Amino acid sequence: MKNQNITNEIKISHQKKRAFQPGKLSPPRNFSIPAALDSTKPLVLEIGAGKGMHALSFAAAHPNQQLVAIERTRNKFEAFVKLAQQRKLANLVPVHADAIAWTVHALSPNNVARIYILYPNPEQNNPNQQWLNMPFFEFLLSRLEEGGQIILATNIESYMDNAEHKAITGWQLPTSRIQVPQDSQRTHFEVKYLARNEICWQLTITKPKGYSTRFDDWKAKSIEHTQL
Ligand SMILES: C[S@@+](CC[C@H](N)C(=O)[O-])C[C@H]1O[C@@H](n2cnc3c(N)ncnc32)[C@H](O)[C@@H]1O
Repeated sequence: MKNQNITNEIKISHQKKRAFQPGKLSPPRNFSIPAALDSTKPLVLEIGAGKGMHALSFAAAHPNQQLVAIERTRNKFEAFVKLAQQRKLANLVPVHADAIAWTVHALSPNNVARIYILYPNPEQNNPNQQWLNMPFFEFLLSRLEEGGQIILATNIESYMDNAEHKAITGWQLPTSRIQVPQDSQRTHFEVKYLARNEICWQLTITKPKGYSTRFDDWKAKSIEHTQL
């Protein structure tokens, strides 16, 4: 009964928000669904992978997980893909695309174990483009498995404060926030900020059991035939 009440509260809270419209988004250019998405390994997504420093070390350290790492900027992606080809990691798929369009067209609901968003663009002049402020965030949550996590890191305190507040009060999700250890070296931006003695924060957002979104039954035509 308590779980039902929580689910209803989440539904009402989502209904008050402007809904993302996945049906209006075209697939990314040259889009195809990576065969690796059929893997039985837990699927992990990285959004804004840059030159792939985290993606390459994560895939090497977690051979039992399947990582799809998406980067939109061509020159960064090219540097990333060159290293990925040298390392030949069978569980890493680098994708050159906008992560929003790619997620809409490639992923089924309730399918992703973990999503990394490490040092996203700050979007200080356009806060509507910060990940947790976007209507797309509800769609992203729909692709996450129950118990799945989103890991967000930033060096910008106001970005972290807003993300934490939005996760708890807007999206009604449990979070935990930590300071990134001074010796952490997961990404190029993390290395740069910590070398300057800046503080970096990390927010872990968990999708609880029974959490619902307006996209839990929504699938793009490209994956309609796949099982939910
Ligand atoms: C500040 S950089 C951080 C890169 C890397 N995560 C790091 O920490 O070194 C943010 C990256 O996110 C990418 N990005 C921003 N929005 C994106 C989107 N919608 N889809 C894919 N990549 C995106 C940008 O191209 C940029 O490379």
